[in-house]
Amino acid sequence: MHILVTGGAGFIGSHYVDLVLEQHADDRVTVLDALTYAGNRTNLARHEGDPRFRFVHGSISDAALVDVLVADADAVVNFAAETHVDRSLQAPDVFLRSNVEGVYILLDAVRRHDRRMVQVSTDEVYGDIPEGHFSTEDDPIAPRSPYSAAKAGGELFCRSFAISFGTDVLITRGCNTIGPRQYPEKLVPLFVSNALRGEPLPVYGDGMQIRDWLHAADHARAIDRVLRQGRAGEIYNIGAGNERANIDVVRAVLRRLGKDDTLIRHVPDRPGHDRRYALSWEKIRNELGWEPARDFGQTLHETIDWYVNNPAWLKAIRDDSTAFNDYYRQQYGWRLGAAPVQEG
Ligand code: DAU
Repeated sequence: MHILVTGGAGFIGSHYVDLVLEQHADDRVTVLDALTYAGNRTNLARHEGDPRFRFVHGSISDAALVDVLVADADAVVNFAAETHVDRSLQAPDVFLRSNVEGVYILLDAVRRHDRRMVQVSTDEVYGDIPEGHFSTEDDPIAPRSPYSAAKAGGELFCRSFAISFGTDVLITRGCNTIGPRQYPEKLVPLFVSNALRGEPLPVYGDGMQIRDWLHAADHARAIDRVLRQGRAGEIYNIGAGNERANIDVVRAVLRRLGKDDTLIRHVPDRPGHDRRYALSWEKIRNELGWEPARDFGQTLHETIDWYVNNPAWLKAIRDDSTAFNDYYRQQYGWRLGAAPVQEG
């Protein structure tokens, strides 16, 4: 099978490329990636020179390019997206373009060329989940941030194409994912990086928000199972059973690094912050036989250890890129008590 992996130079996308090329000897992969701030060609370095691998620099918004690449492939797995909730509060329009319009452009080509597509979505489309409940794929969606609203919009286009045109498209809704090569704007890589630098760890609000944590390699395996064995038009939740309060994750990070809790700073909360996400993943387990290979401890420790052992990867982002530092100042400057960032 020849798979077009859009957004394959990003975090989960690059783990998916690893999986396909390492575990399916007869498959080929074309990565289409716009290399925006979170895409990084070094994430794919190990595949350069493999005749089964090809990299195309471009965007899912480029309909002509997408048309050619989809025609040439057997299936599409779409990881290309704007993914960070805090950034969606700063610039929602970018999320609309990538996560709704971009998905539409892919879908349109998939429909015309009669291919299969997996749309990688998120548990955030369910919105804030009351204590005790675990979202199933039949639950109503209720996104609450511009990020999750845009992901829900992309999903609804997929669903409408499946129903209206019989397009062979499937949706996955994954929980919080960690592992090597995650851009250090997300909780775990940011806090590992800050702790290693002796900088404060900015915990939003009381830190009692709950997330479910999955390793990127396990997430990639689930998506691959959906691509190869999933039923057309279906949605599959991908959870891990690792529900934890943020503050407990932060303390576990500090313990692994041999640091104490004095680096923790409670800072003003993310506006509209969802308190809890929680998924039922019975469907993918029962129908497709997938379950995570790692428990929470292994997931977190493998993740932390990778950043400790790959300082050059983090340094290239934190010290050598103004994009990261502009974002960091905007997002955390006033929260951590520095002078507010001047607009304009
Ligand atoms: O649930 C799946 C989603 O997980 C994905 O769809 C998103 O693309 C991904 O970004 C992630 O969303 P979150 O908003 O949950 O991830 P983030 O790492 O930004 O934050 C995790 C939790 O930690 C959340 O409750 C906010 C909190 N947090 C985050 C940051 C960056 C802090 O307390 N301080 C921080 O500085």
